[in-house]
Amino acid sequence: MNFKIKEGLYGVGVIDNAVRVFHGYETPVGTTYNAYIQVDEKITLIDTVKGTFAIQLLENIKSVLGERTIDYIIVNHAEPDHSGSIVEVLQQYPAAKLYGTSNCEKAMKIFYPSIGDNFNIVKAGDTLCTGKKTFEFCPMPMIHWPDSMATYLQEDKILFSNDAFGQHTGLGHLFDTDLGLMSLIERAGDYYANIVLPYSPQVAKLLDTLSSKTIDMICPAHGVILTEHAKDIVQKYSDWSNGITDEKLVSIIYDTMWGTTDKIAKNLYNEYTAKGFHVKLLSLSSCHYSNAMSHLLESKYIFVGSSTLNNNMLPTVIAFLTYMKGLKPKNRVGLAFGSYGWSGESIPQIEKILTECGFDMLPSIKTIWNI
Ligand code: FEO
Repeated sequence: MNFKIKEGLYGVGVIDNAVRVFHGYETPVGTTYNAYIQVDEKITLIDTVKGTFAIQLLENIKSVLGERTIDYIIVNHAEPDHSGSIVEVLQQYPAAKLYGTSNCEKAMKIFYPSIGDNFNIVKAGDTLCTGKKTFEFCPMPMIHWPDSMATYLQEDKILFSNDAFGQHTGLGHLFDTDLGLMSLIERAGDYYANIVLPYSPQVAKLLDTLSSKTIDMICPAHGVILTEHAKDIVQKYSDWSNGITDEKLVSIIYDTMWGTTDKIAKNLYNEYTAKGFHVKLLSLSSCHYSNAMSHLLESKYIFVGSSTLNNNMLPTVIAFLTYMKGLKPKNRVGLAFGSYGWSGESIPQIEKILTECGFDMLPSIKTIWNI
């Protein structure tokens, strides 16, 4: 993946269309690891890529720079999907100087001891002049690691946002206009629900910081570059980070042993559809928990059901609830439901977890099996 974004700015990242699981998050259409080259009097590389793609990154860089060399490398984030090629890049371009936050330096020195003291720590508002262009650093701690940072190219009004505003989509689209607004929102929402959601307070802070800047383009570290639809995704981030949900949207997420819990789920579906709600019915026997998570991002109502198995919930439901609780959705209404043969622990267990999530609870539904 090597393409011109605008005069002097190139995408040199890679497509990973084979990856299907990203630390527990299912990625059905793969992803990209985006890196960018800014050519000015000095040459800057913004981020690298996962280590297994280092050779491809170096080829992409070479095809842009020829015999020129890299002067600066901005390390927006130390997670290995963005820093994993740093050693190979520095072997090729040993004079390049690294720039990132102090937390980034700490992580990079642990991950890649060979970088030694080649690291310049930057703070909010610090700048790096490359000749005619100026990069401004905007740390965004806990979106989603302590070291995370965005970088703003002042003259071109471009935000290199790293994980923020990203999407896991590896189908080869380069720009938001290639993907289309509906698919873009779907992929960005999926990403927000599974990665960014617990850090919504930090997102609100970032959006406040960015509100004083004009942003014509967002170049994230995953997925397509945002141009025409940048404002749409920034607005979505504002809604998602403020816990704004669709008051008429219900997600019913469940698993069943012999069909009784499935019947309860479908009765709930019929009941709420008849009341004028839009209802999503998601069986965890066929829907991965991370996929369920993206469906519930905008749901006001989250209903969770399980049969009782060995005095417990079904394993798929335990996995989903553990995952969802960690992602901290806010301002929701919950309902626990399920079936049982002789004990029925699953229903109070679900209710307990939904309550711990801070949900307002509707009365539970507990039904003896009825095959
Ligand atoms: Fe895409 Fe936090 O790494």
